[in-house]
Amino acid sequence: MSPRGLGALPEPPTRPGNGHLQDWALSPLTLIEDGAARARAAGGDLFRLRLGLPAVVGFSPTWNRALLSDLATFRSAGSFSVLVPYLSGGVILSDAPGHAGRRRLMNPGFGRAHLAALQDRIRAALPPVPVGEFDALAWADHAVLRLLNAAYFSGEFPEDLLHAFLAPLRRPFPAPAWPRPALFLRFDREVRRLAHARLSGGGGDDLLSVLAPLPGGLEETRVSLAAAHDTTTHALAYALWHLAEQPQWHAPEHHPAVLKETLRLHPPGWMGSRRLGRDVVWNGVRLPRGALALYSPYLSGRDPTLWPAPETFNPGRWAQKPPAWAYLPFGGGERLCLGMHLAQTLILDTLAALPPLRAVRGDPTPQPGLTLGPRGPLVVAPAPSN
Ligand code: HEM
Repeated sequence: MSPRGLGALPEPPTRPGNGHLQDWALSPLTLIEDGAARARAAGGDLFRLRLGLPAVVGFSPTWNRALLSDLATFRSAGSFSVLVPYLSGGVILSDAPGHAGRRRLMNPGFGRAHLAALQDRIRAALPPVPVGEFDALAWADHAVLRLLNAAYFSGEFPEDLLHAFLAPLRRPFPAPAWPRPALFLRFDREVRRLAHARLSGGGGDDLLSVLAPLPGGLEETRVSLAAAHDTTTHALAYALWHLAEQPQWHAPEHHPAVLKETLRLHPPGWMGSRRLGRDVVWNGVRLPRGALALYSPYLSGRDPTLWPAPETFNPGRWAQKPPAWAYLPFGGGERLCLGMHLAQTLILDTLAALPPLRAVRGDPTPQPGLTLGPRGPLVVAPAPSN
């Protein structure tokens, strides 16, 4: 039987004139949850979206594995990253066959051994925990900025400029997509100055000293910092909130499971995108070359066919191994997040330094922008000791 066209795939209801674009812009989580429910009801694992160009979203482990393992077919060039100048470059946009070599050059600097050497400096940069009530989201934002400054630049990057550079990323679309040549120029100039000191003095062991000598090192620094900040901030803020709500998990031996569970329910990278480099036939449907192919750590992490009580925050579930290719907060395969160990180090070190907290009031509703974060604020306070 010859494959059917995209019309054979289920899709959420469309609006006249703009397909799914309006729902994608206004309430994308509802839209993709609806699509996934329709796909499941039809016995499939893929649904269609009309986003100005043909798009398909999959969420099963088989889809995730295909998309994340076959880099020649599922290409980064032409993905959503192109739309955001902050992410449009470096390793994020490189494709097979060059991608693997680039990652080989970068991975050691972001590996556990090198990060261990930076850990004291990173810990020392953590801002003090406020004594009274505070907004965990705003605090995490500031803390992660300081921690990244310590890891990348030994704390030498002017904080105001770093903040100004990263701030547009968390504004609603289309703000992150606007070109900001003057801001990028100021940022790049500062990175170049700091890089020069490292290259000419031959010293330093921070992440800039690892990246500066690499081809395209300046761009890799800019792009990876942009990928690092909001993702880590949102994960940390959610982890703080969950710990404040369920303080029985606030102990260093539980923190790794708390972080995993936080990222399962609230993966900052809630949707990953690729473009199809060739036609693909998936369960009897032809997906055309050039179509957008999406995977969603958010949908896969909450799939009721894969996780018992998927909506419940339960770090205890991590006593068992998760289903393969279902838990993807850091993506997977060759493109696995470059900063995975860095983010885990920053977050776990911060949790270890925090006193027991209690939740005061807050709005943790997931709000999808470039990354998924809590709507906020998330007001917490140190818990009274008894
Ligand atoms: C909790 C924090 C973080 C989360 C949830 C996260 C999530 C992700 C995800 C899902 C991907 C794969 C995207 C895809 O397949 O399309 C990714 C890739 C990437 N991440 Fe992270 N990330 C985090 C922190 C960081 C940090 C701290 C850095 C700093 C180096 C970073 C740098 C990158 C880069 C450069 C890539 C692209 C890798 C490639 O394409 O080879 N991320 N991240």
